[in-house]
Amino acid sequence: MNPTIELLYLIGSVLFVMGLRGLGHPESARRGVILSEFGMAFAVAGTLLHPHIVTYKWIAIAAVIGSGIGIAMSALIPMTKMPERIALSHAFGGLAAALVGVVEFYNHGHHLDHIKAGAISFEVLFGGLTFTGSLIAFGKLQGIVPGRNITYKFQNQSNIVVFLLTVAMMVTVTMDPSQSVVFYCMMFVAFLLGVLLVIPIGGADMPVVVALLNSYAGLAASATGFALGNNVLIIAGALDGASGFILSVVMSRAMNRSFANVLFGAFGSAGDSPAAVADSEGKEVREASVGDAAMLLSGATKVIVVPGYGMAVAQAQHAVRELGEKLEENGVQVSYCIHPVAGRMPGHMNVLLAEANVPYDQLFELDEINDEFQHADVALVVGANDTVNPAAKHNESSPIYGMPVANCDLAGACIVLKRSMNAGFAGIENELFTSENTVMTFGDAKVTLESIIENLI
Ligand code: TAP
Repeated sequence: MNPTIELLYLIGSVLFVMGLRGLGHPESARRGVILSEFGMAFAVAGTLLHPHIVTYKWIAIAAVIGSGIGIAMSALIPMTKMPERIALSHAFGGLAAALVGVVEFYNHGHHLDHIKAGAISFEVLFGGLTFTGSLIAFGKLQGIVPGRNITYKFQNQSNIVVFLLTVAMMVTVTMDPSQSVVFYCMMFVAFLLGVLLVIPIGGADMPVVVALLNSYAGLAASATGFALGNNVLIIAGALDGASGFILSVVMSRAMNRSFANVLFGAFGSAGDSPAAVADSEGKEVREASVGDAAMLLSGATKVIVVPGYGMAVAQAQHAVRELGEKLEENGVQVSYCIHPVAGRMPGHMNVLLAEANVPYDQLFELDEINDEFQHADVALVVGANDTVNPAAKHNESSPIYGMPVANCDLAGACIVLKRSMNAGFAGIENELFTSENTVMTFGDAKVTLESIIENLI
C-alpha cells in the first residue's frame, strides 16, 4: 500500500465523518457539505495517484463530462425537483458500482478468492437493483411512470422468491467464482428486482424509497471498496449505507408508518381513498382578503407559521422572514413549525428558511411545538396542505391516517395561503380549509405575503 494514498484516504474518511456530523443540524449543515466536498477531493486525489493507472486520458475525459453534467444539474434543476435529482444520482451510483463489479469479474473471475467473489456479487446485486429501482422512483416522482401503487396477486410472495433466487445465485458465485453464466444471470435478475420492488410502492412513499435506495447504493459502494481493496470507498459506502437506512426509518416514523408497511404495504397512491375525498364536499370555505389577514396577524400576540411545499414553489421564504420580523417588531411572538415531511425532501423547509436567514431559535420540530397551537392566536399556513390535514388524526379511511400533522385546527384562527382549493401531494381534500376557525387567502404565497406586509397595522 502506498502510504501517501492511504494518508489521503484517511484524511478523506475523517472529513466524510465530520461532514456527516455537520449535516445533523441546520446551523452546521453548510459546513458539513463543505467538509464532505473536501473529503471527496482528498479521496479523488488519492485515487489518481494509484500506480495501476496506465493513462489519464480517459479519466480526464470522464471527469470533464461528469463535472459538466453535475454543474448543469445543480444549476438548472430547481429545489422543488430535488427528490427526482437525488433518485437519478442514486441510479447512476448504483450502475457505476455494478459496472465496476462486472469489470472486476470479467478480468479476474476465475482467479477470485471466495471473499472477493462474494463482495463483487453483492456489489453487482445491490448496484443493479439500485439502478433500476431508482429509475422507477425517478419516473414515479416525475410522472413518467404511474405514481399509484401497481399491484397484482401474490406480489410480495413472488418478489420474495425472486429475491431468494438472486441470493442463491450470489452464494453460488461466491462458492465457485468460475460460474460466469450464473453471475451474469444474477445481474439481470437484480435489474428486474429493482423494478419489482419499487412498482408496488405509491408515489407518496417515494421519499422513503429514495432514502432506502441511497442506502443500497452505499452498501454496493462499500462492497466495491472490498473488491478493489479501496479503504475510503469501504468507509464512505458504509457511512452512506447506514445514514440512508436511518433516514428512511426516520421518515417512515415521521409519517407514522412502519418501515415494513412502506415497503410491502402497497400504500400511498395519490387519491386512492374515495371516503377521504368525499368528506369535505358541500362545506363552505371562508375567504379572507390580504387586508383581513393582515388585521388578524396585527391583532395577535402569538403566531405560528407552518410552511409547506407551496412556500418552496412560490419561493416565499424571504417574504416569510420579512413578515416574521415585522410582526416581532410589533411585539408579536413568532415561531415556525417544521413538519418532518413538509415539502419534497428531508429538511426542505429548514434549507429554505436558513437561506432566508430566519433565526434558528424560532424553528421548532413538529413534536416540539405541536402542543403550542392551542395557545396561539394565529396559525399561518404558507403553502402546506397534507401536513396540516386534521383527517390524519381521526379519519381512518384517509390515506394519510396516522401521519402526525400540525395542530393548526386548534389555534384561535388559521390563515391558509394557497392558490386554489387544489389538493396537495396525497391528492386528498383537506377539512382544515372548511373548518370554522380557518380563512383562506388565495394567491401565490409570495405575492400574498408581500401584500400582507404592506397592510400590517
Ligand atoms: P402539499 O401537501 O404537497 O401541498 C402543497 C400545497 O402548496 C398545494 O396544495 C398547493 O395548493 C400549494 N401551492 C403550490 N404552489 C403554491 C404557490 N405558488 N403559492 C401558494 N401555495 C402554493 O405540501 P406539504 O403540506 O408540505 O406536504 C408535503 C407532502 O409531500 C406530504 O404528503 C409528504 O408525504 C409528501 N412528500 C414529502 C417529501 C419530503 S421528504 N418532505 C418528499 C416527497 C413527498 P395550490 O395548488 O392550491 O396553490
